[in-house]
Order: sequence, then C-alpha cells, then structure tokens
Amino acid sequence: MNMNITKSSGLRGELAIPGDKSISHRAIMFGALADGTTEITNFLQGADCLSTISCFRAMGVDIENHTDRVIIHGVGLHGLKVPEQMLDVGNSGTTTRLISGILAGQPFTSTLNGDASIQKRPMKRIMDPLTQMGANIRSLNNNGCAPLEIRGGSLHGIHYQSPVASAQVKSCILLAGLYADDVTSVTEPVLSRNHTELMLSGFGASITSVGTTATIEPEPQLHGQKIAVPGDISSAAYWIAAGLAVPNSELLLKNVGINPTRDGILRVVEAMGADITRENVHTVSSELVCDLIVRSSSLHGTTVSGELIPTLIDEIPVIAVLACFADGETVIKDAQELKVKESNRIDTVVEGLLAMGADAIATDDGMIIRGGKPLHGATIDSHLDHRIAMSFAIAGLMCDTPTTILNADSVEISYPDFYESLHKISV
Ligand code: S3P
Repeated sequence: MNMNITKSSGLRGELAIPGDKSISHRAIMFGALADGTTEITNFLQGADCLSTISCFRAMGVDIENHTDRVIIHGVGLHGLKVPEQMLDVGNSGTTTRLISGILAGQPFTSTLNGDASIQKRPMKRIMDPLTQMGANIRSLNNNGCAPLEIRGGSLHGIHYQSPVASAQVKSCILLAGLYADDVTSVTEPVLSRNHTELMLSGFGASITSVGTTATIEPEPQLHGQKIAVPGDISSAAYWIAAGLAVPNSELLLKNVGINPTRDGILRVVEAMGADITRENVHTVSSELVCDLIVRSSSLHGTTVSGELIPTLIDEIPVIAVLACFADGETVIKDAQELKVKESNRIDTVVEGLLAMGADAIATDDGMIIRGGKPLHGATIDSHLDHRIAMSFAIAGLMCDTPTTILNADSVEISYPDFYESLHKISV
C-alpha cells in the first residue's frame, strides 16, 4: 500500500497514544512465565507484539486477545512446551532477542526465524553471552543472524560486560539468568531502557540496578500481574515533531510513557526551543506517564550524542526530519546502532531527506543536518521500515508538493492507526 501526504495547514486536537511496544512484548513474556493470570490493558496490537503472542501460544501458553484487554494464563517458569514448529518472530528484533534468553533456559531444542529484515539483524550480540552461560545456540546460515537453533540446558550465572548499550541484549541475558545456577549481571557502556528491570521486579523477581549494571537472582516465583501499558513515546514522537514544525498546531497527547531511559526526545526538543509541557505526571505499573501539550515553535539546531542516544534511538529518524525545520546545524553522533535497525537508518533517513531537498549528510555514526531549506514532496521508499514510513509521512506535512510513501503499511509493526490519527488531527 502507498500513501499520499499533502501539506498541512495545522494540526489540532487530542490523541490517545497506543501502548508501548517494548512494554507490551515484556508483559506477554513475563505473564507467560508467571504463575496465575496476567491482565494487560492498552496492549499494543501491532504486528511485532502479535508475533510475541504467537510464539508463546506455540509453546502452549493460553493467551486471550480481546483487543482492549489481553489475558495470559501463565504456565510458570518451567511450564513452556516444546514448540512443534519453527517459532516465527516476524519483523521483531525484540521478540527474537528476548525469547532467545528464555529458550536458552528450556530443557528442549527450538528454532526461530523471521522475515528478510530479521535475517539480517545481528544476533552474535546475544549468541556470545548465551554461549558463555552454557547454552548451545547456532546461526543456521552461519552468518550470525536468524534462523537460530537454540539447545537450552543448564545455565551458569555470568557477569557480562556488554559492548553495546542495548536493552534487547541486556534483557536476553537477564531472562536467561532466571534459569541460571547463580546470580547473573550485565554491565552496559551506557544505560539502555530499563522496562525489563522494572516489570520483572513487579512480577516478583529479585533484580537490582546500580549505575549501568543490572543483576538478577535465579529461580524466582513470578506472580501474574495487572499491567496498564503506557502510551509509547516512540509513537508520540511523530506528533511531537509534527506539532512543533507545522505552523498553527496545538496537540494534546494523552498517556505518554516518560521513563527517564526513554524520554530523550523531550530533552532534545526542549534544547531546540520547543513549546512543550508535561501535565498530569504520574506512575502506572512502575512506569512514569504524563500528558503532553505541544505547540508550533521556532526551533534551533542542537547536538544529539553520548548518553542521550539509547534514550531516543528509535526517534532519531523523526528528530532528523524535525532538524530540517530548525535554524542552524543539528549533529547526531554516537548512533552507529542505527545501521542495524529494521533498515540502515543512517542511509534510509539521509536518502529520504536528500530526495526532499534537505541539506543532510550521513556520517559514520549519525548525520549532520542544516535546517532552513524548504522541503519538496518526493516518493519515499519506506524500505519496509515502519519508522521510516512514519517519519517521512510527517516530513510530507511540511513539503510544498505531495509526498508518496511506498509500502506505507509497514506502520502496522508499531502503530496500526497512524494514518487514521493523522487524519483526525488535520484541520
Ligand atoms: C527495544 C530496544 C531497542 C529499540 C527497540 C526496542 C526493546 O533496541 O531500538 O525498538 O524493547 O528492548 P536495542 O536493544 O537493539 O537497542
């Protein structure tokens, strides 16, 4: 499906932000491993989270998906059944890496695979620590990517010094640590999102976090929970950028998760001069949440680097779009991880911006954008990357001529109602 986007004369109104993708995945996984029932509200019904549901169903977990409410009948830490077929993780890196940690602790062999994009994502980053813990994990094409075969077994607790700031790697190891013979800890170079630590503690695991090190004790009894999933700040990001850059805009974004390990985009747009306010700040299911009011603003360029990067890694494509409408230069660096996302997002972002006439250059670890040049409509290939489709749909709102997004339905991965929401707030 392709989507045409035309120039906007203003965005106004209120949007309820759909559930956080990272938290939705974890709620299914931990609910499956808990004793008793877990009830999830505001679960993200995106294709990635549905892949997680189908993988756990394939291992015998009864999961009722009533759309507004998901109910998981947990089987306990040792209750998963041998999957009869290869587990299908679809497009989801989070499913692949987190489930691998769980599979490493099972007394059976399993295989998993996903789409063409997943078969290019690096898995050595989880194969190495899981192997150190005693699992036998193989890339079936010998290229460090899925399909993976995982022979679970008795695992040893390790201390792992992770070379990357990745919540998927950290979570994979912590989940394997549930099944280890001793404590397991992970130290990251920079702190990544901590949803696993917060939610697993809520389920009854014993996890401590000190600085960039998280430590877990093995064999806890996990108890079913009620989880209200906060709105996904990575989805709110599109409306934050659009509300700031499109003249004559004022948006109320309801129920946005602002966990400090995820709120980098707010800190960046505030540094750029944004008129954005947080209201009704409160905690839901151990996660900080608020409503955001965003108004059209005149912005200036900034530098996005260092410890900020993991707190906004998925928002960089739309931050790059926003930088085109800021005065002066925006430098994004220390973001090599962009190269191994659903697409090489350094290349796909810069390619799209150049097609629209922006002043952008790719660097080895990010990009440099000089704002202020008017953007023109273009045909943008989403490269089947949901965040590229949505970022350039937002850019299209500010272009003088129409934009066409190719494979625009890739938004299904994380934001199935994205185009309906855009229509709703367009004046
Ligand atoms: C995620 C972690 C991040 C992020 C991804 C979701 C998670 O990936 O980009 O969309 O849920 O843990 P990395 O851990 O690879 O940085």
